[in-house]
Amino acid sequence: MATPTSICIAGTGLHVPERILTNVDLERFVDTSDEWITSRTGIKQRHISSAQEPCSLLGAEAAKRALADAGMSPEQVTHVLMATFTPDTFIPSASYSLRSRLGIPRGMAMDISAACTGFLFGLETARALVTVHPEAVVLVVGSEVVTSRINWEDRGTCVLFGDGAGAAVIASGPAPGGATIVDVILDGDSSLGELLTVRGGGSAAPLCPGDRIGDDFFVQMQGREIFKHAVRSMNTVVRKLLDRQNLSVADIDMIIPHQANIRIIESLIKKLEFSEEKVYINIASYGNTSAASIPIALAEAREKSLIPEGSKVILTSFGGGLNWGAALLQF
Ligand code: UT7
Repeated sequence: MATPTSICIAGTGLHVPERILTNVDLERFVDTSDEWITSRTGIKQRHISSAQEPCSLLGAEAAKRALADAGMSPEQVTHVLMATFTPDTFIPSASYSLRSRLGIPRGMAMDISAACTGFLFGLETARALVTVHPEAVVLVVGSEVVTSRINWEDRGTCVLFGDGAGAAVIASGPAPGGATIVDVILDGDSSLGELLTVRGGGSAAPLCPGDRIGDDFFVQMQGREIFKHAVRSMNTVVRKLLDRQNLSVADIDMIIPHQANIRIIESLIKKLEFSEEKVYINIASYGNTSAASIPIALAEAREKSLIPEGSKVILTSFGGGLNWGAALLQF
């Protein structure tokens, strides 16, 4: 079996629920203000799933668009990787639920649990699969219904997140109009795990029939600490990626960062000495959609024709774990 000469993103797509919750809507039931949320985070609104729109449905819609973009059909997909921390159910996994929705009856499918960096973990896993199986067509999906794990009484977290999904089709290249995945670096530090948790209902904090769910069932985090680590880790990993590829920041045409907080993005850009006009930012419209953030932004930037052929694009993310990573794409 020949090793593929390049591994490509052949198509991308995104899907978000129709319902929008604006900062002004939030003011009605949370002790917050549009002014605070906008100035501290850059978020103006977020999309919210209904009970009929679980993680796999959002992911399947994004995947259909990514497949259409790649000119492929669901039958051609050989592997499904689903990055999420909010699966429809623990068993079957969200990747299996998504596969059912797309009518992909057989083949390997699995969930990836790496919080906001999950999509980059998926890209790296897809690269490995295509290297071993050059004929593989891997669907990598980041899909989250973060609001299913949000405590609306915790104003420090509930204003930050939103629901949505993004997807990419990965296969041996070349992929006309797509991008080569040149390199990926992933890293993490489990000693920082306490900074962002969803504990309740896990085997270390099991729920018994009739139990009331506690605050630990929801996302809990130490925002300020995460902020510092986010800027530091993304700066370090992007520089490491550039060094490894013998590139400088000036060689990069666009950076697509995880959309968690506009101030995190601004601090990162400053540290990297990169130009803000070349950074793709959509946090105002979606909030932090965790594993869906990067593939939504990538798909949207491509839909808007903002990435001309020949562009070098860096994706970079951080998240609960803590973990972080960066990928270099050549369009
Ligand atoms: O994908 C990874 C997920 N996590 C993150 O990316 C989180 C990274 N961290 C952050 O984005 C920021 O730390 C936050 C947006 C979470 C918070 O911003 P901050 O500037 O670090 O604010 P803070 O937590 O230090 O709170 C400042 C003040 C506090 O009031 P006092 O103690 O100064 O009176 C908070 O109680 O702001 C208050 N506050 C709010 N006020 C209005 C916290 N949340 C809100 C709110 N509305 N929603």
